[in-house]
Amino acid sequence: MTAFYHQVDPHSEILRDLENRLHLENLLKSNCYPKIDEGKDIIEGLSSSNKSIPSRYFYDDKGSILFEKICELPEYYPTRTEGKILQQYALEIAQMIGSCELVELGSGSSTKTRLLFDAYQQLDYPLCYVPVDVSGSILETSAKKLLVDYPFLEVSGLVSTYDLALQKLEKTSFSARTIAFLGSTLGNFSPQQCDRFLQQVTSALNPADYFLLGVDLQKPIEVLEAAYNDAQGVTAAFNLNSLNHLNWRFDGNFEVSLFEHRAIYNRELNRIEMRLFCQRSHQVRLEKLNLTVNFTDGESILTEISRKFDLSEIQNTLMKQGINLLEVWTDSQQWFGLFLGQMQ
Ligand code: TRP
Repeated sequence: MTAFYHQVDPHSEILRDLENRLHLENLLKSNCYPKIDEGKDIIEGLSSSNKSIPSRYFYDDKGSILFEKICELPEYYPTRTEGKILQQYALEIAQMIGSCELVELGSGSSTKTRLLFDAYQQLDYPLCYVPVDVSGSILETSAKKLLVDYPFLEVSGLVSTYDLALQKLEKTSFSARTIAFLGSTLGNFSPQQCDRFLQQVTSALNPADYFLLGVDLQKPIEVLEAAYNDAQGVTAAFNLNSLNHLNWRFDGNFEVSLFEHRAIYNRELNRIEMRLFCQRSHQVRLEKLNLTVNFTDGESILTEISRKFDLSEIQNTLMKQGINLLEVWTDSQQWFGLFLGQMQ
């Protein structure tokens, strides 16, 4: 009988350990997303003569899953290239940074970040991982997998936009904080948005804290256009999904089949422009915004830009924000750059 009382259910032990190492907070629930502007950005974007939809509307749960698929496409080189760089230099990066709180903005499934966790585990450096993503379901699923695979790791995830997370980050008990921004998401910002974003990043950092930034570099146009016009049509589905998202969020009647995805490189501005081209004149209604939009045949909606940088441009941008560049790692073709900066 006594033996019975001493028996511990190994499953509940494991579960308790996982629970102790997992903290998730949803900043979008308590806050006013998307009530902040309740579609004001959509009204502005679709009422303009050059129509646009902000790219945050890509990322509902379905959009986040499609984006994960994009990252695995044969034509989409950025994820693979950044992954290779991380694989090669993760140990060096971990050694330079040391034990820290690692905040990752737009963590998604955290696939590439695992390369850093491997390095931290190998070096036996404590790490607290703070993934930030707007998709709660992806965040929770991947956090749980990480806790199983990395017994040393603590995960403190935030379901949040970047803005909100950067404002709400609490003081860390670690000696340093690292903010990681991978996948060239910086390229999806206009130069002004980029400056504003970097200001928010630097306000969330103390002197000597780190910023790890992955950006896509300039390269032949054929490679770029193929990456955003994949043969399987996953990018097209992803782009078109933003119309579905608007339909459910704002009670709209976009007919998705009337639009066609195309990504074109703009040589003057060094950026891919992702558009949805309208195939025939028609009207769309977004009931909750009390908005009627007229589309003409051949007109397009700009849904995303993806800027392609040069190494010195990024270096200057970081310097301007008071971030010293410690190291740049790149691949043999110089297709992608991984920058480690440190706050002055
Ligand atoms: N940060 C990614 C990039 O610019 C985002 C991205 C990749 C993307 N493929 C896309 C955004 C297709 C919209 C549509 O490369």
